[in-house]
Formats: sequence, structure tokens, C-alpha cells
Amino acid sequence: MNPTPSHFIQKLVERAAARYRRAGRYPWHFAKGKLGGDPAFAALLAYGLLGGRTRIVDIGCGQGLLTAWLLAAEDAASEGQWPQDWSMAPQAFHVHGIELMQHDVTRAQQAMQAEVRGGRASFAAADMCAADFGSADAVVILDVLHYVPIAAQDEVLRRVRDALAPGGVLLLRIGDAGAGLPFKISNWVDHVVNTLRGHRLGRLYCRPLAEWQRVLESLGFKVQAQPMSKGTPFANVLMVAQL
Ligand SMILES: C[S@@+](CC[C@H](N)C(=O)[O-])C[C@H]1O[C@@H](n2cnc3c(N)ncnc32)[C@H](O)[C@@H]1O
Repeated sequence: MNPTPSHFIQKLVERAAARYRRAGRYPWHFAKGKLGGDPAFAALLAYGLLGGRTRIVDIGCGQGLLTAWLLAAEDAASEGQWPQDWSMAPQAFHVHGIELMQHDVTRAQQAMQAEVRGGRASFAAADMCAADFGSADAVVILDVLHYVPIAAQDEVLRRVRDALAPGGVLLLRIGDAGAGLPFKISNWVDHVVNTLRGHRLGRLYCRPLAEWQRVLESLGFKVQAQPMSKGTPFANVLMVAQL
């Protein structure tokens, strides 16, 4: 069976979010809203950005939505449900999530209980500026780096480069500080959502797209930037940085 992408995405959102029921109503509703409303999650699968990558590190993983999403995709594909024109589904991967907030780590561990026990997922409460990234085939950093000062961002990116195997990929989503009003809206929403989630993350350290590109290229990455805010009023860009 080859479901149409929009129907398929809706089913995948339900499947991934259902894991959070046991963590409570808020994490469940948050999962449905974020996975269904953020175009990055479907794009990761449609373009096969993590296909064939087995050691995945998710920095600033929050409640582990990326892991829940990849597991749902793997399950759907193994049942023969995968959109015809999408790239290969992720499979047989291990995700290691790193997250500053203990309550998010606890939610991720609850939602992925069986996979944590079975060694397919792990989540650590740690600051990305100090955490060990281990060795990885892919590192994902979605909307996280701007919480730390510029020098700390550069150091995280340098350590990510060192953690990646040859041919590895970094998927880095940033807000383009050169994008005018949509960027201001992104920042405002970021502030409100994080306050509602009980985070006190303070000042944001943002950069224009060209500056992100320069930093990544200086570390040896080949970079492709794809707008990643379709259907939202934001100025988000997904940078696919390949070693
Ligand atoms: C906007 S959320 C994005 C969550 C997730 N990447 C996603 O796309 O669903 C940013 C996350 O980064 C985490 N974070 C912020 N600073 C961090 C740090 N220094 N180390 C690890 N995580 C951090 C926050 O606690 C929050 O969960």
C-alpha cells in the first residue's frame, strides 16, 4: 500500500505522538502539534536525510520527538506503508538524545521505554557545551544552537565535526537573522513556547544564514540550505552539511 503523503503524515504523527500518552496530556498534545505542524519532520523522511544513518545524535532533543518520529517511520515502512516517491525509510538506527532539561529527558525515556531498554535509544540530561557526542553518522540540531553564545556555538559545531564519521551529515536548523519580520516572529514564538514549557533560556544568539554557511564551510562541510518553514510564518532554514 502506498498512502498519499498528507494522509500518511497524519497517521505517522498519530503513531509517534501516541507514545507520549503515558507521559501525560501535555507531552502528548505537544507531540501532535509539533510533529504535525513543523515541516522539518516530514521533509527529513521525504528527502531521506537520515536514511542509512545508523548512529544518530540529536542535540537539544527536547522530549525526544525525532526518535519517536523515526521509530514510527520505521514501523510504517516495515508494514509496507511508505509513500512511493519518498526516499528510503530510516531503519536499524540508534538515537542518542542530549537535552538540558531533565523533565524533557524523563518524558523521552518514558515515551521510548522499550527502545531505551532494548538499546535502540538513549537520552542524557546534559549541556551540549560539555556533553560527549560520541561517534555518529548523523547529528541533528533543530532550533537549539541560538540558546548559547556565538563562541560556544562554534565550539559545539567543531566537536560535532570531530564526532562525525567520514561522509557523515549534520542537519542544522537555524532561524535566519537576516530574514526581517518572519525572523522576529520566530524569535517571539520561541520565547513564548519555551516560557510555557518552563524553560528559562534567556537571551538568544542569532546569525544570518550567510554567516552560518561560512562557519560550516570553514569546518570542512559542504552545505546545502533549504527553507524549512513552509506553512508557518517563520524564517527557518535547514542546513544539510555533509563531510
Ligand atoms: C526549540 S527546542 C527544540 C527541541 C527539538 N530539537 C525539536 O525540534 O523538537 C530547543 C531545545 O534545546 C534545549 N537546549 C537549550 N540549550 C541547550 C543546551 N545548552 N544543551 C542541551 N540542550 C539545550 C532546550 O531545553 C529545548 O528542549
